[in-house]
Amino acid sequence: MNILILGAGGREHTLAWKLAQSKKVNRIFVGPGNAGTSEAGTNLKIDPENFQEVKNAVVDNKIGMVIAGPEVPLVAGIHDFFINDPYLRSVPLIGPVSSAARLEGSKDFAKAFMSRYNIPTAAYKTFDKSSLRQACDFLKTLEPPYVLKADGLAAGKGVLIKHDIQEAEKELKAIIDGKFGPAGRKVLIEQFLKGVELSVFIITDGKSYKLLPEAKDYKRAGEGDTGLNTGGMGAVSPVPFADNDFMEKVRQRIIDPTMKGLKEEKIEFKGFIYFGLISVKGDPYVIEYNVRMGDPEAEVVIPRIKSDLFELLEGVANGDLDKRELEIDERFVSTVMLVSEGYPGHYEKGRDIFGLDFTNNCVVFHAGTKVADNKVVTSGGRVLAISSWGKTLQEALDGSYRNAGIISFDNIYYRTDIGFDL
Ligand code: AMP
Ligand code: GLY
Repeated sequence: MNILILGAGGREHTLAWKLAQSKKVNRIFVGPGNAGTSEAGTNLKIDPENFQEVKNAVVDNKIGMVIAGPEVPLVAGIHDFFINDPYLRSVPLIGPVSSAARLEGSKDFAKAFMSRYNIPTAAYKTFDKSSLRQACDFLKTLEPPYVLKADGLAAGKGVLIKHDIQEAEKELKAIIDGKFGPAGRKVLIEQFLKGVELSVFIITDGKSYKLLPEAKDYKRAGEGDTGLNTGGMGAVSPVPFADNDFMEKVRQRIIDPTMKGLKEEKIEFKGFIYFGLISVKGDPYVIEYNVRMGDPEAEVVIPRIKSDLFELLEGVANGDLDKRELEIDERFVSTVMLVSEGYPGHYEKGRDIFGLDFTNNCVVFHAGTKVADNKVVTSGGRVLAISSWGKTLQEALDGSYRNAGIISFDNIYYRTDIGFDL
């Protein structure tokens, strides 16, 4: 079968790398992809948010399955577009329909869903322009820090945590006044939870699910988890504190009630669910749902799947996931993200990347790269994710860091402390 992966980052390169190992996969296409995906498959110059372009690519390349990497096309309804199109109807798309993608696309929807099914999460209230006064009054009843969230998709920037109430009020008004565009028409004010975060993933065909390896993502730009929030500077899997007891609580209190809620509300979910969790004194709470794999979590989770990923995705498409095998590699995998200095703020692009042919005992997943004049150059803030395996976390990290030292480009930056807290 020919497969089309939508997206352009490290997650998509990882999916392409893994699917290329399946005997059942014939050709892999990635749209638009990056320099790395052009080695694992064929890049197509398409915009995943332009559904007609996606359709043309599916028809032209006899695609039998489409995997949506990022959330934006899912929230915008790409799966619904497939279902409603006479040709595309028979082509499975991995990723939920828009009514289910609201779990990520609307924080207000996700919180109300969690309330309906008693899923542990921070207390909250939602406000809009007409209830700005009540929002400010509500802030006064809370202890700092104050957590403000734009309801809609804001490219990972829509959450603000403020220690000062005046600043929180100012930001609240700015969000409602359009700081994040229409995503901020509604704002959530949440109770602050103190704990350790981790990411848990399942794949589901809407009926049963399989638990994938959990991961910890390092979101802040600076050492010791300081500085600005980024898409993720590195990740590790497994997460030592997520032992059997903890994961049993996650299943019983979070995953199972989520599946039950989706079924009760007749929301068919086919794809990945990413539970952004926080462990508060050993009890898991949901910080957010995402309706896709994480990035850079994919770069450590997918390398730990020993089974054929295509077989699992075929199970999602056919609705017989319960009959498919999932075997997990016991070893640790770490990934270290090499970024362009300045990220997540301003950074330069188009810098030559050296050393890619000299890495060993690792996989280098491309995030923001492209081929220009037959050379691989930087084309994004997050450039490369270096994933390594090890019997211990330290051994995995040593592999990622040794290889990080082999690669160079102008203004390279990476955190040297991934996994420091585990
Ligand atoms: P999100 O975009 O929802 O993942 O939020 C971004 C980050 O903000 C999370 O990874 C947490 O570190 C933090 N955060 C979000 N909600 C809360 C909360 N209720 N309590 C504490 N930290 C939070
Ligand atoms: N690494 C966080 C995310 O994918 O949303």
